[in-house]
Amino acid sequence: MHAIGIDIGGTKIAGALVDEAGNIIRSDRTPTSAGDPAEIEDAVVAMIRNLSEGEDVIAAGVAAAGFIDAAQSTVYYAPNINWRNEPLRKKLEARLDLPIIIENDANAAGWAEFCFGAGRNYSDMVTLTIGTGVGGAIVSRNRLFVGGFGVGAELGHLRLIPNGLPCGCGAHGCIEQYGSGRALLRISNEFADAGGIGLGLAAARARTGTLTGVDVSALIQAGDGGALAALRQLGGALGQACASLAAVLDPQVFVFGGGVAVAGELLLEPIRAAYLDNLPARGYHPEADFTTAQLVNDAGVVGAADLARKHVIEQ
Ligand code: BGC
Ligand code: NA
Ligand code: ZN
Repeated sequence: MHAIGIDIGGTKIAGALVDEAGNIIRSDRTPTSAGDPAEIEDAVVAMIRNLSEGEDVIAAGVAAAGFIDAAQSTVYYAPNINWRNEPLRKKLEARLDLPIIIENDANAAGWAEFCFGAGRNYSDMVTLTIGTGVGGAIVSRNRLFVGGFGVGAELGHLRLIPNGLPCGCGAHGCIEQYGSGRALLRISNEFADAGGIGLGLAAARARTGTLTGVDVSALIQAGDGGALAALRQLGGALGQACASLAAVLDPQVFVFGGGVAVAGELLLEPIRAAYLDNLPARGYHPEADFTTAQLVNDAGVVGAADLARKHVIEQ
């Protein structure tokens, strides 16, 4: 039976009707103004109604960028959206005639990559999604790891720098502040301020007054020295985190998703280098593979649908 997957992002909500093999039957998307909970709830309800019309649907999975409880009901906290102890599942189920499951967005995307994408030939995988924040998903021995309270695999909040930059989670020095899309913009602005190889970034910034993700991606694609150096710095931070993650989780593969991962090898190369430089017992155990996501923008909706279906079947 089909299931619905919804992926709530910072600027848009994506949804899809998904079959058991992870194929998208129908999809939908709508923009949202940054993170108003009531507006998001209305948009999700409308989208689930629209996608389930005339269809036999078993459940809907809603992927959200935050700390989700073990019962998959409440968003405890979202660093980049205004959710605090938000009973999202109860609110949605009150308005819809369908079992609803709330998932962490990166867990959903990672699960889709594991079942249908870049992780499908492995038993142990770590996914990092590089977008506004840094999301994490862990698959160990073919099972998605969620932790004791549901909020495990929040890999974006691993500490990279003691007393480092403040993070939306309330802590300091998290990898999210050094390895996310927002971090890429911060680093790019620093290069633009410094002149030298940052002149291309400075020129792009001068056109509108602010440097955007689109500007930086275009410069990366054009081979601009400053933009590439910023991306290398980002990759260096992420690669250090991967070396520490390897010591804990020993994955066979690291999969990188999210908007920034579209840079492909240009991002993977510095990640791999920093991973090897920092890998404990390097040379005396197998090294992980590094790859980018295959389902890219569809991973969140496909994974959310699959996890919701499995949850209802297993009950
Ligand atoms: C949040 C995670 C989320 C990630 C990617 C982080 O700031 O803590 O829950 O998965 O961003 O959206
Ligand atoms: Na996660
Ligand atoms: Zn943090």
